[in-house]
Amino acid sequence: MATAHIAAEKGAFAKTVLMPGDPLRSKFIAETFLENPVLVNNVRGVQGYTGTYKGVPVSVMASGMGIPSIGIYSYELYSFFGVENIIRIGSAGAISDKLQLRDIVAGMSSHTNSNFAAQYNLPGTYAPTADYTLLSTAVESAKDLGLDLKVGPLLSSDTFYDDDEEALHKWAKMGALAVEMESAGLYMNAARLGKRALAMVTISDMPFTGEATTPEERQNTFTQMMEIALETAIR
Ligand code: ADE
Repeated sequence: MATAHIAAEKGAFAKTVLMPGDPLRSKFIAETFLENPVLVNNVRGVQGYTGTYKGVPVSVMASGMGIPSIGIYSYELYSFFGVENIIRIGSAGAISDKLQLRDIVAGMSSHTNSNFAAQYNLPGTYAPTADYTLLSTAVESAKDLGLDLKVGPLLSSDTFYDDDEEALHKWAKMGALAVEMESAGLYMNAARLGKRALAMVTISDMPFTGEATTPEERQNTFTQMMEIALETAIR
């Protein structure tokens, strides 16, 4: 079966899909963490794999960058492939002074400057929110693994390069912990389609100071976040 952006058998995806931004990361996760991974989609090089983790089926497929891209892939997985849970596993820039490089953050909610919610014609302002079951399961899983998982609001921005130099400071004043570019779209699709979503990120850079993790550091913290996501997927 083929949707506009995914060509895979109808039952090709597991109930839970882990979603990194980068297609190469998707391949790495499948080959490193899943047992018997099978490539189930490769349209536009957006590699999707299904395998098992501790015997439980789990899929991994990339979202690409930005709300439009994760909007497309999450919509098609939820609507046409029977996927129930999507756990984004990405990176973010810290905008709260409570965070450091390599911290792992679960997005309880997602502020956004995106216009994605306009399609719903709501008589007010929508508040994109994580699924509580996935969020609380991730918190428990992190505790059991002895890993520190911070929980709070993310900022899902449409602009990586923003003309307003104060924009991130303004969001930080309102409590946003970290900036990334996908969670709000994922949360809105999940809400509209009656599905579950959670976005977790590792802090890869500090937009206010220019500090950034090395590729090795990114790999190590990413592995810890992966363990939390995989345990959450199978509980
Ligand atoms: N993802 C990782 N770092 C980011 C940043 N500084 N802004 C937006 N998305 C990001």
